[in-house]
Formats: sequence, structure tokens, C-alpha cells
Amino acid sequence: MNIDYVSLKWNSEGLSFLDQRKLPLEEVYVKAESIEDAWGAIHEMVVRGAPLIGFTAISGLALELLSNRINNLDDFKQKCDYLKTARPTAVNLMFEIDESFNEVKRHIESNESWEDAGLLLKTRLNNQMKKLEEDNLIMAKLAEKKLSKLYGDKKLNILTLCNTGFLACGTMGTALGAISYLNSLGRIEKVYASETRPYMQGIRLTSWELQKENINHDIIVEGATSHLMKTKKIDAVFIGADRIVGNGDTANKIGSSGLSILCDFYNVPFFVVAPISSFDLSLDNGNEINIEMRSEDEILSCRGQRLAPAGASAYNPSFDISDHSLITSIFCEKGEIHPVNKENVLRITGE
Ligand code: MRU
Repeated sequence: MNIDYVSLKWNSEGLSFLDQRKLPLEEVYVKAESIEDAWGAIHEMVVRGAPLIGFTAISGLALELLSNRINNLDDFKQKCDYLKTARPTAVNLMFEIDESFNEVKRHIESNESWEDAGLLLKTRLNNQMKKLEEDNLIMAKLAEKKLSKLYGDKKLNILTLCNTGFLACGTMGTALGAISYLNSLGRIEKVYASETRPYMQGIRLTSWELQKENINHDIIVEGATSHLMKTKKIDAVFIGADRIVGNGDTANKIGSSGLSILCDFYNVPFFVVAPISSFDLSLDNGNEINIEMRSEDEILSCRGQRLAPAGASAYNPSFDISDHSLITSIFCEKGEIHPVNKENVLRITGE
């Protein structure tokens, strides 16, 4: 079975990931031959974006099982726990690992062999990636329906943050998937891709994806957002999610929360597009989410070139929480959550 997406490939030459650290300057694939390689790829951000992190974890577990080193559930559980430490905020990582563990457990408990378990997870990886592709389209259609209700068939100016497209998902994408779908219907005037300091996912990755799809866009610096909303008509903001908790509070790339506050001020709809694997209903509100803190070097330097004066320090939280009260709607494969509150989150997700 060949798995063939731009950001993750598994074919006769083995498993490899597009090294997103090098984009857009180089398109280089990195091989992964062990669970440790998968952990490293997530931790070092060779792969990134909540869904792809989850898929990479499934591939790491599959590699471990295919190596025939595991023959009991306790050892397998230990490997699962290890993989969960690769990055803390995107719950898709934990979701895909828990679901994989449960599938293998069912398989073993019905007297199937450990030898088949690796292939089982490789098949699961293929299925999950295909499923997300279908789900992304469902979410995109819900978003399109909402925008048509708000604006008719007017061409839209949309602002987005970070990277939420096929690089982050393997397949079509969440927020950027919706944008790409709207573009395929001729509904996009312009996309504004926020550069996403300090890791630059917007300028490096989103602009690269938008170029590949010939979608009209400008890159903006984060500091230009308020001016943009004041002086040009922004019809909507679309972001993805790393973790959505019970009341609808949403963790996403640092800067999302500020965007939601600006949207409230300028009366711009603020939309989140995310699959069910991004929901964590074990938490009640966003304050409980573990926010990844990253190296201060990401802020103090750029591609090895020091920017800040010697001795300066930096504070680098990688995600923030948008309060549910400022989110217009969340689109997931089970429907539109609107207004965003605990009751509707539970109703739509079916919990
Ligand atoms: O640190 P990253 O690049 O992994 O952060 C990614 C994001 O914040 C994305 O917006 C989020 O994972 C949604 S991807 C569909």
C-alpha cells in the first residue's frame, strides 16, 4: 500500500516527510525508520500542524510494530506515552495515539498476532488521512454556506494565520482548505496571509501553498492587522485549531487570540475550522490547555543571524487561546457550532 501526500509519503522506499523547516527555499524529504525518528520529526518540526502531527505519530507506532520488537501491550503503551511527549499542545497527537493503541489492543485481544499489528496501523494511517480529506471538504462546504448567507456571491477578502493547508494536514487543509475550496468556486478576491512570527509559517508555508494553487494573496506582518481591518474590508478571518475544549475555547498559533479581539472590535466574523480530532472534551476551558513554550532563539535570531542585542532575552509562547465568546462559528465534520458555547459543542460533537 502506497501513501502519497506532499507532506508524508510511505512507498517502496519507506516512510519520509517533507522537511517543512526548509520550505520554501528547498523541497527536501527526510526518511523515518523508527519511532524515535517520528518523535524527532514532530519535536523538531520537520512536520507540523495538528493533524499531520497526529498522522506522523501513527506512522511512528506502525514502524515500531513492523520492527517486531513489541510483543505485549504494556511495552506498546510505553511507546505510546513516549510519543505523546513530542509536542504538548495539539491534541490530535494524543487522539491519534490513543485511537491507535485501542485498535491494536482490540486486535491482540481477539487473538490476532503482533506480526500483523504494524500493517494494521499502516492501514489505519491511510484511512485516517483519506477520512480527513473527506472531512475537510465537509467543513469547507459548511464555511461556504455560512459565507453565502452573510455575503451572497460577493468575492471575499479573507485573512488567515499560520499554516493550515495540505502541509499541516496531509490533505486539503482546514482553514486553508476552506479558502482553497472558496477559490475553486471563484469566490476569493484576496487572501491575506499573516506572516506568523516568529516561526514564519504564514510567510514560508501558507504563501508557498497559495502560490501552488494560484490563489491571489498578500503577505502581511502581524502588526498590520488592525490597519488592514480598518482600511480595507476584511470579510472573515479563518484559523485552524490545535485544541478545542468543552466550552469552545480554542488553542491555535500565537496571535490567534489577538486576531479574535480585533475581529470583535472591527465586526469581522472569526471562524475556526477543525476536525473532531482537535477537540479535547476532557478539559472545560482554555486556561487548562498546556501551551508550548519554545526557544527564545526563534525570536532573537532569524535563520542563524542574530537580530537582538547580545544579552537580550525573549518570551516565546507558541500558542494562545481564543475565548469562545469571540469565535463566530467552529466548523467541524459534524456540523457548524454556533454560537460557540458548551451546550453547542457537546450537541454537535455528539458527546
Ligand atoms: O507550531 P505549528 O506550526 O505546528 O502550529 C500549527 C498551527 O497552529 C495550526 O494553525 C494548527 O495546527 C491547525 S493546522 C490544520
